Amino acid sequence: MAMDAREIYVTALKNTHALEMQALQIMERQVERLERYPEMEQALRRHIEETHGQRRRLEEALQSLGDGPSALKEGFLGFVGNMMALGHAPAQDEILKNTYANHAFENFEIAAYESLLTIGEAAGQQAHRTALQQSLKEEQAMAEAVRALIKPTTERYIALTTSGAKADR
Ligand SMILES: [Fe+2]
Repeated sequence: MAMDAREIYVTALKNTHALEMQALQIMERQVERLERYPEMEQALRRHIEETHGQRRRLEEALQSLGDGPSALKEGFLGFVGNMMALGHAPAQDEILKNTYANHAFENFEIAAYESLLTIGEAAGQQAHRTALQQSLKEEQAMAEAVRALIKPTTERYIALTTSGAKADR
């Protein structure tokens, strides 16, 4: 059955909303556990605040189209869920796995927003374009922040581990 561009746009808005809800869960769980990596904690706390704004932008766009966010779509988040599950197993290198996963997750979100903006353009939906572009910029900034934290986080992990300290989170 054919879908028109507007329907594709609504579906993409719902999927992106589900992605942001997943992002909030993942980041909140990590922030609660972080003890020895204050820079990562700070980056996550800042991005949690931004993500609430991103969620609201998507909800406003959906409401203006007479729709609301739907339940999580099975399958869509399968990749993300599997990736994030890496970090949940208690392990000495939990911080490293979470860092890799956060980097992947932010880049996943960048792809989702670039695609959403393209779909919105094809559907002639301009009303929320600026807001969604702002969300994309925030994801790009967070992806860069996580990227920049890979080296210092790994160095701190090595220093703690080789001195016999706990370094997991
Ligand atoms: Fe994000």
